[in-house]
Amino acid sequence: MKTILWAALSANGNYARSSQRHPPKPEATADFAAHAREHGNFIVGRQTFLEFQENASRRPQSASMDGIDIVVVSSTLALPPGAPAQTAPDARAALALLRGRGHQTALVVGGERTHNAFLSAGLVDEVIVVVTPSFEDEGRKITLSRGERREATLIEHTSLGGGLIRLRYALGSVDTW
Ligand SMILES: NC(=O)c1ccc[n+]([C@@H]2O[C@H](COP(=O)([O-])OP(=O)(O)OC[C@H]3O[C@@H](n4cnc5c(N)ncnc54)[C@H](OP(=O)(O)O)[C@@H]3O)[C@@H](O)[C@H]2O)c1
Repeated sequence: MKTILWAALSANGNYARSSQRHPPKPEATADFAAHAREHGNFIVGRQTFLEFQENASRRPQSASMDGIDIVVVSSTLALPPGAPAQTAPDARAALALLRGRGHQTALVVGGERTHNAFLSAGLVDEVIVVVTPSFEDEGRKITLSRGERREATLIEHTSLGGGLIRLRYALGSVDTW
C-alpha cells in the first residue's frame, strides 16, 4: 500500500501550528480535502481529530468528506456506533484497516505525533508539504528517527494561491549518516 504524508509547514520549516486566532489557511484545508477525496480516506491522530470536531475552521467542510474512510489513530478513543470514523491503535493497524476496505493508497494528515509515528516506522512513501507564508517561534517538526536519512525526489511543485506552495516528494529508502 502506498502511504502519503500530508503536512503544512511554516516558511521557516516548522510543522505549522494553528490556533483559534490563527486557523489553517483555507488553501491548505482545501488541498487536504482534495487529496482526501482523491484517495477516499485519511488517517488522523486523536488530538487532531478532536480539534476537527471542536472547531470547524480546522477541518474541510463536512459535506466534502462524505463517503471518505476516516481512521483515527488512538488507543484510548471510543467512538459511538454510527460515528463518521473508525479507530486503530497504531500506524500499522490503521493501514491494515484501510487495506481491508480496499484502499491502495493511504493519506496521513497529522498531527505531529501521528506523522512522526509513520515516519519512524518507515511507513511513508511520499510526502506532500504545503509551505505556508508564516514564520513561527520554536515549534514542532516532522522528523525521521535519530540517525536516519532519506533522499527525496521532488515530483511536483504547485502554487496553491494565497502565497502557499505545495511540494510533493517521493522518499527513497532509509539510510544512515
Ligand atoms: N501542520 C500540519 O499539517 C498539521 C496537521 C494536523 C494537525 N496539526 C496540529 O498538530 C497538533 C496535534 O498534534 P499532536 O502530535 O499533538 O496530536 P495527534 O498526532 O493529532 O494525536 C496524538 C494522538 O494520536 C495517538 N497516537 C498515534 N500514534 C502515536 C504514537 N506513535 N505515539 C503517541 N501517540 C500516538 C495517541 O492517541 P491515544 O492517546 O488515544 O492513544 C496520541 O495521543 C495540533 O496543534 C494540530 O493543529 C498540524
